[in-house]
Amino acid sequence: WRISAGRQRSADETLATMAAPRKVCIVGSGNWGSAIAKIVGANVEQNPRFHNTVNMWVFEEMVAGRKLTEIINTQHENVKYLPGRKLPENVVAVPDLVQAASDADIIVFVIPHQFIGKVCDTIRGKIKCSALGLSLIKGVDEGPDGLKLISDVIKENLGINMSVLMGANIANEVADEKFCETTIGCKNKTDGALLKELMQTSNFRVTVVEESDVVEICGALKNIVAVGAGFCDGLGFGDNTKAAVIRLGLMEMIAFARIFCTAGPVSSATFLESCGVADLITTCYGGRNRKVSEAFAKTGKSLEQLEKEMLNGQKLQGPATAAEVHLILKNKGLVDKFPLFSAVYQICYERRPVTEFISCLQNHPEHM
Ligand SMILES: *[C@@H]1O[C@H](CO)[C@@H](O)[C@H](O)[C@H]1NC(C)=O
Ligand SMILES: *[C@@H]1O[C@H](CO)[C@@H](O)[C@H](O)[C@H]1NC(C)=O
Repeated sequence: WRISAGRQRSADETLATMAAPRKVCIVGSGNWGSAIAKIVGANVEQNPRFHNTVNMWVFEEMVAGRKLTEIINTQHENVKYLPGRKLPENVVAVPDLVQAASDADIIVFVIPHQFIGKVCDTIRGKIKCSALGLSLIKGVDEGPDGLKLISDVIKENLGINMSVLMGANIANEVADEKFCETTIGCKNKTDGALLKELMQTSNFRVTVVEESDVVEICGALKNIVAVGAGFCDGLGFGDNTKAAVIRLGLMEMIAFARIFCTAGPVSSATFLESCGVADLITTCYGGRNRKVSEAFAKTGKSLEQLEKEMLNGQKLQGPATAAEVHLILKNKGLVDKFPLFSAVYQICYERRPVTEFISCLQNHPEHM
């Protein structure tokens, strides 16, 4: 019996290795995209389940008089977005998006979220319909009912199945191969195992969970909490208060996910993964949402003014997400159950004084 079981497994393994190697395309080549390309390029070279060339779509631009794709393909360095770190030579920069993605079995989306509509329009109907999508895009889209997950936007646009990868993953630290963890949310166990093989290294440890919508919503909701953490810092509160803000924020994240993610169960265990508590902590200590919100509480300047001064006019994610979440909570009559999310919304958009932020938390449902 043992012998035949052994034979059976080795036959399965033979089949698995005989399956055509999967071709991977990375759509995006910014800071995070380049850091991920470094990992993916190195992994596919050592793993026969993957084709050993990785296409990376690069939005073409001129850098010091040369095309960025040309620089990447000759110097093997993204001198603009990940300077000082070499990319593996099997990562090929391709300026044409359709050409880069058309034969891919796995498509990794890692672009700023405002470009996703245009990218989908460009490749719709021109990629393999069996392709597996993996979104590393942080943020959410505005939908008719408030929030829409980016992976759902891609899935509906392209008709492919989507997974996500999120975690406490500051790109430069990942590129420097400093130890960290990440979470892949994938509904299909077989696909999840494949994606883990593609992404995991000795210093980039992957946990796969099935609740991909929860993994993704964590990445959006944490920015609301980070705004609260920034208020707390700007108002001069100490570490105890900030820890309380983070914990109450986490509880609201879990409660909101239970309302929003209706496709399946929402287990609190998912929030203990890197995508949950770990990403929340990095965002509430580093991160632009915290920084700008601290300045908001300290200076009394408007958010628009601070976005201009501190972010070159780019929009802060936290307040926008708070507004979308508020719309959903209002429609469901649940505003009172989410005092932290609601206070962030009211302070950012309804001129509620930021000095009231902490008192808003004093009657939190957690304490009742
Ligand atoms: C997408 O996932 C569903 C559910 O796991 C599966 O039935 C379907 O075949 C998948 N579609 C593609 C195109 O792989
Ligand atoms: C999971 O995906 C594999 C292909 O990657 C497919 O053969 C299988 O049917 C899927 N499982 C489910 C439950 O959809």
